[in-house]
Amino acid sequence: MRRPPLAGRARFRRLDARDRAERLAHLARLGREAGRARFFAERLPSRPPEPTFAVGCWIDGRLRGVAELYDLPGHPGRAELAASVEPPFHGRGLGTILLDRLIVLARNRGIRSLLAFCAEDNARLIGLLRRFGARITVADGEARGTLDLLPATPATWALEGLEQWQAITSRAFALQRRWTIALARSGTTVGAELGAFTPWR
Ligand SMILES: CC(C)(COP(=O)(O)OP(=O)(O)OC[C@H]1O[C@@H](n2cnc3c(N)ncnc32)[C@H](O)[C@@H]1OP(=O)(O)O)[C@@H](O)C(=O)NCCC(=O)NCCS
Repeated sequence: MRRPPLAGRARFRRLDARDRAERLAHLARLGREAGRARFFAERLPSRPPEPTFAVGCWIDGRLRGVAELYDLPGHPGRAELAASVEPPFHGRGLGTILLDRLIVLARNRGIRSLLAFCAEDNARLIGLLRRFGARITVADGEARGTLDLLPATPATWALEGLEQWQAITSRAFALQRRWTIALARSGTTVGAELGAFTPWR
């Protein structure tokens, strides 16, 4: 069942090295069932594999979902994808948006085929992959999705550029907010409690 949208609270951007601890915390928050679906194991691996690149979804400042891409050595142009969204946020379209964004990054890096593996009863991932046009095959309890990608175009480059620009501006706004709060707490400003203060005024 589809749940209510997150009313603009979700922010998406590419993960970088500074997000490593937050990614591990997100994986730990998946809990038993979603963690098992993600890693085919009862416990979170002590050192989860590091993706080649990943896109994350932040809600109220906390990383709640990731879509990750792993290179397949010896298979240029192909890569494996994995995704996880914390259970309270399932079924609200976050997986879809994460996959949209991962696909743009993958196309821009010359990847023409994405593979995904999950248990055959993983209806959410299989539904998600099907909606993107993936071919699904099932063998020995495991489903394998293959998603063929179009080559990069000026539009996919523009989308990635736009996303990077948005990431820079959101970091700048967050920094500005921290200054505002710090200055307000130090008692040097008037009106900061209204959120109207900017340090350069
Ligand atoms: C797979 C996963 C990332 C999807 O994320 P999500 O945010 O729930 O995805 P969306 O909300 O975009 O929904 C995607 C599709 O799931 C299906 N779906 C949604 N709710 C469902 C439910 N209750 N039961 C079955 N399918 C459901 C639908 O097909 C939906 O597509 P729709 O929009 O056409 O209805 C997430 O469920 C998850 O983290 N699962 C645990 C980890 C995992 O299994 N990872 C995959 C292995 S790597």
